[in-house]
Amino acid sequence: MRSLFLKTSLLLVVLLAVAGFFHHYFWYALSVVLLLTAIGIYNMLQTRHTILRNFPVIGYFRYFFEFISPEIQQYFIERHTDGTPLSRNHRRIVYERAKDLRSTHPFGTELDLYSPRYEGFKHSIYPANEVSGDLRVQVGGADCKQPYSASIYNISAMSFGAISRNAVLAMSRGAAEGGFYHNTGEGGLSDYHLQGGGDLVWQIGTGYFGCRTSEGRFDSESFRDKAAREQVKMIELKLSQGAKPGHGGVLPAGKNSPEIARVRQLEPHKAVISPPGHREFNDAEGLLRFIAKLRGLSDGKPVGFKLCIGRKKEFIELCQVMQSTGIKPDFITVDGAEGGTGAAPLEYSDSVGMPLQPALRFVDETLREQGLREEIRVIASGKIVTAAQLIKMLSLGADLCNAARAFMLAVGCIQAQRCDTNRCPTGVATQDPQLVKGLVVEDKYIRVANFHRNTVESVRGLLAACGVTRLEDLTPDLFMHACDWPETGRNTKPTGTDLSR
Ligand SMILES: Cc1cc2nc3c(=O)[nH]c(=O)nc-3n(C[C@H](O)[C@H](O)[C@H](O)COP(=O)(O)O)c2cc1C
Repeated sequence: MRSLFLKTSLLLVVLLAVAGFFHHYFWYALSVVLLLTAIGIYNMLQTRHTILRNFPVIGYFRYFFEFISPEIQQYFIERHTDGTPLSRNHRRIVYERAKDLRSTHPFGTELDLYSPRYEGFKHSIYPANEVSGDLRVQVGGADCKQPYSASIYNISAMSFGAISRNAVLAMSRGAAEGGFYHNTGEGGLSDYHLQGGGDLVWQIGTGYFGCRTSEGRFDSESFRDKAAREQVKMIELKLSQGAKPGHGGVLPAGKNSPEIARVRQLEPHKAVISPPGHREFNDAEGLLRFIAKLRGLSDGKPVGFKLCIGRKKEFIELCQVMQSTGIKPDFITVDGAEGGTGAAPLEYSDSVGMPLQPALRFVDETLREQGLREEIRVIASGKIVTAAQLIKMLSLGADLCNAARAFMLAVGCIQAQRCDTNRCPTGVATQDPQLVKGLVVEDKYIRVANFHRNTVESVRGLLAACGVTRLEDLTPDLFMHACDWPETGRNTKPTGTDLSR
């Protein structure tokens, strides 16, 4: 787009200059084109706004619709609470926290508090003065030799391939700056993850990218070498992901550049579809023995698995086999069906898997019933953008949370939803070098760290408002639900009211 802009401007300048000798009106047109060219060149050189860097003049249209005309925006395009997957309000809060700007909201809530779906925190008459501790959680059970102290908020799995080299670098540097982890995603451990310097969770998917034999099986030696790196703090075995449970990872051919193919140990320029299931195991005991193998090969780093809940019976059986074999994962990441992806068939995103809240309650309760909860940490992911959502998941049973799309927004994503076309206009989810150039790592990494810091600070504030001083004191009854309220004629409640809560 940048070179097209320069070539078009040059052509117009030459044509108008020549035409100016025939009629003086063309000189006016020439001055307009020169002015726009100067603005465009300025935008190409600035580093703060990716859209304007990539689309030097027409990029202003986005800002026009967003800021110049709130009425058009409000009535004809998108209200603050509209917008999917992430609402405009949620996108705005990420941008503001990432840029360290005002993140307040004027004039009161825009939500319908009388909707039967409403739920809110029960604040206290006696707010706490401060919340103790650093809001970090130790991960690693009895068999783990190198436990890791994780932040309560981290960057969820996104592969180099799904997102660009500059997005990976900005996220990894931001994680290093803010002291939280960055999950590599199933696309392997790339140089960019390492260069960024952040703590890493290395994810292994069904393609075993970065630790595979030429036949696509798991390669122990290659795994051992990479897992030994100091930056790799934990290993996550991916069983499934909320946006496409039971479907393997998808890398469109256009995004499979030679560099990505090298990291993944594949052939470039071909679409890559990972198998839906693992080849190294096919039952609960096999899965747990594989986890024990990964823990041994990584010299005792925390090893866990990520899944979206489908058949509850299978998870209960898995917990029973943990009991009988004594092999337990150090953590379980529960991804809700509302989770994001770079590319997935619509049927899977819309119709497969359990959403995060019931899944989290189920996993937490099952682990408690089986006496496994003490040793296994639960990580939650699925549209966790604000401090309120984060605390809610911690109350429902998570020990810590991950977010993917919120951190994409922090590095400049505008929810254009073109991740599967290689034409992401902000350079986040594309491998097109011209578009990737627009995302300036120096400018964006600090936004990643700011967004994290401001969100965790907001968690502290909300906890204090509820009179909670320790994460351990969070329980599901911190929430009030519209369906528990006394009957007022508008909201409905299933059975008697418990006014003591
Ligand atoms: C661009 C993109 C790429 C992703 N790649 C992976 C992946 O490689 N492995 C994985 O387990 N999940 C992947 N995910 C899912 C996220 O890690 C996360 O589980 C899900 O998006 C829910 O978090 P969110 O709602 O905060 O985005 C990806 C998500 C996005 C948006």
